[in-house]
Amino acid sequence: MINNEAYLLYNVLCYEDGHSRRTQHILKVYALAKLLGEREKISVEEQQILQAAAILHDIAIKYCKEHYNGDASQDKQKQVAPFLEKRFLKAANYLPSYVPKIIELVNCHHDYDKPKSRLLQLLIEADLIVNCYENRPDHENMKLIKEIFQTKGGTKLLELCLKEQME
Ligand SMILES: [Fe+2]
Repeated sequence: MINNEAYLLYNVLCYEDGHSRRTQHILKVYALAKLLGEREKISVEEQQILQAAAILHDIAIKYCKEHYNGDASQDKQKQVAPFLEKRFLKAANYLPSYVPKIIELVNCHHDYDKPKSRLLQLLIEADLIVNCYENRPDHENMKLIKEIFQTKGGTKLLELCLKEQME
C-alpha cells in the first residue's frame, strides 16, 4: 500500500514510546491539520502530504534530546529531521516524489515570517492552535499569533481557543 498513513502514524507513536506530551501533541496537530486541509478543499495529494508532515513535524525532538545533551533547538532539529523523516516515510511506502515536499513543510513550520505555501500555512495554523491550548500565550504573544493566521477555519478555531483567556 502506498502512502500508508496509518502505518506512519503508528510507527511514529511507537517511536515516541509513550511520551505523554509529545504523543498527544502529534495526535492533536494531525487531527487539526486534516480538518483545516479539508475545509480549504485542497487536493487528495496535498492532503496526504499535509497529514504526513503533521505526523512528522516534531519528529526530531526526541532524537535531539537523546543525542545532543537535551538540546532540541530549532537548528539541531533541522539538521536531523530529514534523515528521520526519510526513514519513516520509506517504511510507510510514501511516494518518493512526496518526500521532499513533506521534509520542506516540517523544516519550515516555525518560519512564521517568511512567505508560506498554502500547505505550510495550514500546518503552521494547526500547530499554533494546539500550542495555544497547551501553553496559554500572554497578551503580547496572542496578538502576534493572531497575525499569522490566514484561513477562515483556522482563525475561527484559534479565536475559540483564546476566548477563555479574554473573558
Ligand atoms: Fe508542534
